[in-house]
Amino acid sequence: MQVTEARRTATPLPAPIGAEITGIDVASSPSESDYEFMRDALHKYSVIVLRGQDITPQQQQEFASHFGELRTSFYNRYGVADVPALSIVSNLKREDGEHIGIADAGMLWHTDGSYLKTPDMYTVLYGLQIPHRDGKALGDTVFSSAWGAYDALPDDVKQVIDGRPAVHSFTAHIEKKRAKGQLKRAPLTAQQRDALPDVEHPIVRRHPVNGRKCLFVTEGHTSQIVGLPEKEGAELLDFLTEHVKKPEFHYRHTWRKGDLIVWDNCAVQHLAVFDYGDIPRRLHRAGIAGPVPV
Ligand code: SIN
Repeated sequence: MQVTEARRTATPLPAPIGAEITGIDVASSPSESDYEFMRDALHKYSVIVLRGQDITPQQQQEFASHFGELRTSFYNRYGVADVPALSIVSNLKREDGEHIGIADAGMLWHTDGSYLKTPDMYTVLYGLQIPHRDGKALGDTVFSSAWGAYDALPDDVKQVIDGRPAVHSFTAHIEKKRAKGQLKRAPLTAQQRDALPDVEHPIVRRHPVNGRKCLFVTEGHTSQIVGLPEKEGAELLDFLTEHVKKPEFHYRHTWRKGDLIVWDNCAVQHLAVFDYGDIPRRLHRAGIAGPVPV
């Protein structure tokens, strides 16, 4: 059902998650009531899409700050100059051959910052340059409902995972990418590795706003399930991460230049579809810090 307030609308997308917001022009300083409308829609639909936005990096940062405390990426080599909350996601290269942004972001299913004690609660991604081939946009982002995936699990699996932690590991993530030949960024320094120790999070977390139970293990960052024999744990992890990939939980976003998307990292996992090779793609991303998952 479409939700309309004054000139604003939130129209559900033809998917189990996601809504398109219309009637809000981010460049014209939305009101606090507009932001409340967007936050409510985000907690209801898990992903919100604002099309046709024409904004500067500063305006994106300002927009993101209305969703919570902005995070500064430790990958500041890929930051946007003078806009500390934004990082560049891009396959473009500088003259010296180095990528201008993170070129391998999101190629495995994940939620942002799950390898931190306080993972990112929301992410704001803005499309500046979208690759096309034969008139068709490439580089879609696919979102999977973490609460839909949890709800659909068999009861015996829910019993094993409810209240059980799993390990999320940035180091394991980099190794998985390397093993798949996907790694396109500079290796971690010892200092970066030390700053990112493995963390444990509940496999099932409660959404801090709407209370929904969400499945919280990812193909990208979860390295191990705690408290089960190794083989059993590995098989369960494999089952859960494959379960999230089922299209019945998905919204697949095909980008247009000027799209501004906000997603709820507790409520969804996401995947970047790398089907564009060297055709230029550039997006700017801001992360918003969240609570310790419980
Ligand atoms: C990400 O996973 O943060 C990037 C998503 C994308 O590039 O589509």
